Amino acid sequence: MLYMATWVLHYLLVAFLIAISYNFDAASAGITRHYQFDIQLTNITRLCKTKTIVTVNGKFPGPKVTAREGDNLQIKVVNHASNNISIHWHGIRQLRNGWADGPSYVTQCPIRTGQSYVYNFTVTGQRGTLWWHAHIQWMRATVYGPLIILPKLNQPYPFPKPYKQVPIIFGEWFNADPQAVVQQALQTGAGPNASDAHTFNGLPGPLYNCSTKDTYELMVKPGKTYLLRLINAALDDELFFTIANHTLTVVEADACYVKPFQTNIVLLGPGQTTNVLLETKPIYPNATFYMLARPYFTGQGIIDNTTVAGILKYHHKPTSSHLKSSKNIPIMKPSLPPINSTSYAANFTKMFRSLASSTFPANVPKTVDKKYFFTIGLGTNPCPINQTCQGPTNTTKFAASINNVSFILPNKTSLLQSYFVGKSKSVFMTDFPSVPTFPFNYTGMPPNNTMVSRGTKLVVLKYNTTVELVLQGTSLLGIEAHPIHLHGFNFYVVGQGFGNFDPTRDPKQYNLVDPVERNTINVPSGGWVAIRFLADNPGVWLMHCHIEIHLSWGLTMAWVVLDGELPNQKLLPPPSDFPKC
Ligand code: C2O
Repeated sequence: MLYMATWVLHYLLVAFLIAISYNFDAASAGITRHYQFDIQLTNITRLCKTKTIVTVNGKFPGPKVTAREGDNLQIKVVNHASNNISIHWHGIRQLRNGWADGPSYVTQCPIRTGQSYVYNFTVTGQRGTLWWHAHIQWMRATVYGPLIILPKLNQPYPFPKPYKQVPIIFGEWFNADPQAVVQQALQTGAGPNASDAHTFNGLPGPLYNCSTKDTYELMVKPGKTYLLRLINAALDDELFFTIANHTLTVVEADACYVKPFQTNIVLLGPGQTTNVLLETKPIYPNATFYMLARPYFTGQGIIDNTTVAGILKYHHKPTSSHLKSSKNIPIMKPSLPPINSTSYAANFTKMFRSLASSTFPANVPKTVDKKYFFTIGLGTNPCPINQTCQGPTNTTKFAASINNVSFILPNKTSLLQSYFVGKSKSVFMTDFPSVPTFPFNYTGMPPNNTMVSRGTKLVVLKYNTTVELVLQGTSLLGIEAHPIHLHGFNFYVVGQGFGNFDPTRDPKQYNLVDPVERNTINVPSGGWVAIRFLADNPGVWLMHCHIEIHLSWGLTMAWVVLDGELPNQKLLPPPSDFPKC
C-alpha cells in the first residue's frame, strides 16, 4: 500500500513536471525576425582619404542584428556589388543547418552579383555577444557587425542587470583596398601590407592624423553598470583593450557565461567576443577617460602597431562651476602591456572559467572517443619558376598549415554540397592526418625545411563522437599566437601551456570541472591548448585561424560530422533559394 502510494505520487510528479516544461517551452517559443542586407558600394572617408568600400546597407560597421534565444532569424542578403559575397554568423551553432553557416566554398558557393539568399536559422541554446562577417577572401575588412542574442524573455543575466548595453566592435582600417592587399601578398609570397589604423565601431580616433572628428565616444551616467559587448573584428591583429581609471568585470566570452573576474586590460584575438561590466564612478568625476586598444604580437612580420582611442565621457547636470571648467577637464590616459607581452596574455587567458551553474552547466565530455594532435603554424611554398618571390627567401612564398597540410578550398562547389549529394570523392579527401606525419621539436629550434604540403583533406567523425584535440603551436618562421575558430560547435578548453604538449604529464592537469566554453581560442605563442567537444551537429564544419592572412595561407581544415540514426540527428536538406555554384 505504502509502495503503491509512492509510485502514484511519483507518477503524478512526473506528469506535473512534463506539463510545466511543456508550458514553459510554449511560453518561450521564439519569434521570427526579418532583416535585409543590401551588399553595396559606399564612399567613406577616414584619415582624410575617401574611398569606396563594400558595406551592408551603406553602413560601416554594418547593422546590429538582435534576437532572443529561441528566435528564428531570416536575413535576406541581396548582392548589388560586383564582388561575390557570403555571410557567416560567427558562433551560431546552426544545428543540422550548415546551409546557413556561410563560409564560401565550405558550406555554400558565394552569392553572385544580382543574386540573393535568405540565411534562415534558429538560435538554440545560446545567448550573448556574437557577430557576423563576410566569409570570402578579405571582404570581412568592411563587411561585419554585431549579432546580439538576448536571453529569453524574463530570463535574467547571471550578473547585475546592466543599466545599458553597448557593443564596441574593434576593426582594422586600410587606406588601400584590402582585397588588393591580400592579392598582392599571395602573388608575391610576402607578408601583407599592414593596416593604417585600428577602429572602435569604425572610428580610428584622435591619435591618428586627420581623425579627431572620427572618435568613438561613450557617454555614461555616474553610478551605473554598463554592459560592454566587445568584439574583435580586426583582420589580423589581437588587441589589448583598456579604459583609464576603470576596472572591468569579465562576465562572458564567445556568448558563454564565465565566472566573473576583474581586470583592467582585456585581450581579444580576432573572432573573439568578451562581455564586460563597467561600473561608472559614483559621482561625476570631472575628467574624461581614454579607451585604448592596440595589438599583442610576437611574430616576425610587420604589423600595424598603432593605437585606437575612444573617449569615455560622463554626463553631468550643468552647474555654473562645471560650465566654467567643462572646456578643459583633464583626459586620463591608461597604459597597456608591451606589444609582445605573452606573460600578460597567458595570465589573462587563465582567468576564464565556465560559470558552471545549475542553469548554465559545463557539459565538458568526461570521456574521449577520438584524440587528435594538430600542429599549427607558418611554413613555405616554393616560388613558381620564372618568378622572384618575397617570402622568407626569394625562392619561397609564405604559407601556413595544420599538420603540415595547407588547405585548398574547392572553387566550383562547396564541401557541404558535395558531401550532401554524395559526390565528395572528386572534391575532398578524408585522410587529414590525426597526428603530425613527421614529428619534430615543435617549439624548439625550427627545422631547416619549412615546406608545407597542400590539399583538401578532412576528418570524418561519427555522430556524437567525443573529441579531444590538442592544438600545438610551432616555431616555424617565428612563434605567434593563433586564434583558432571552430564553426558549428562550442568547445571546452581543458588545458593549455607553453612549449611542447606532454601526453603523459599534461592531461593530469586538465580542468574537467569548469573549463571555459568558447568558439575561438588563442593557441599561445610557443605553446598549446587542449579542447574537447561533442560532435552532435551533422554537417561540414570549418576550423581555422581567425588571423585572416593565416587563413589565406591555408591555416584551416574541416570536419565532416556524419548523420546519426534518428531523424532529428540528420543534416537538413538545403533551402530552395540556395546559391547556385
Ligand atoms: Cu568568424 Cu570562419 O569565421
